[in-house]
Amino acid sequence: MEITLKVFRYNPEKDAKWHYETYVIEGQPTDRVLDLLEYVKGYIDGTLSFRRSCAHGVCGSDAMRINGRNRLACKALVRDVGTKITVEPLIGLKVIKDLIVDMEPFFDNYKKILPFLINETPPPADGKERYQSPEDRAIFDDTTKCILCACCTTSCPSFWANDDYVGPAAIVNAHRFIFDSRDEAANERLKVLNSMFGVYRCHTIFNCTEACPREIQVTKAIGEVKMAILRGKIK
Ligand code: SF4
Ligand code: F3S
Ligand code: FES
Repeated sequence: MEITLKVFRYNPEKDAKWHYETYVIEGQPTDRVLDLLEYVKGYIDGTLSFRRSCAHGVCGSDAMRINGRNRLACKALVRDVGTKITVEPLIGLKVIKDLIVDMEPFFDNYKKILPFLINETPPPADGKERYQSPEDRAIFDDTTKCILCACCTTSCPSFWANDDYVGPAAIVNAHRFIFDSRDEAANERLKVLNSMFGVYRCHTIFNCTEACPREIQVTKAIGEVKMAILRGKIK
């Protein structure tokens, strides 16, 4: 079948302004948008730039706007998005080249919420691991699935309005540790998220939940973090 692929192009070394290039190529309903981009890069224009690594929805590196919606190019099939496809970079982060955006501000926000287990208590003397019940593990199971693709944060109007907002991805990852029974730094993270650019910038718009390729209940997780702040010290 014939596929029309319209791609956002911008090379800061050559272009005064961004533009679109359109490529008409042959493909299959089961082709992924990533396959189409690889074809263009391999056979039509080797200068086309985009990120990708795993090609199986695991690394989170090929998030982009596909027909106006944030998706992973390696998970978007032609049969789902149609044969007229527009591909653009994520909104809210500076475009470095073509579909590649500057992820540094995104990861700076991620670092603010201390995304690692903090526990100063010595581990059990018998040399065994710190135990956690299946019920306690289930409390934060959903937020462990994040692959840091940025689909959520870059679809959030509150983030577009003010990129100092830590964004839903950072809050999801804070949730993953705040509700981990083995962690001892929930209050430090809650302090960060109770600040001017924390959870209260979220106005429950739900774009983040709709955009998440891992189907994480992002808005629900943000609500649970808001409740934890309202309740004060949570553990
Ligand atoms: Fe991507 Fe979902 Fe994680 Fe947001 S919560 S960064 S959309 S995997
Ligand atoms: Fe934004 Fe999601 Fe909240 S889209 S406003 S972070 S519910
Ligand atoms: Fe890794 Fe798509 S290339 S998630």
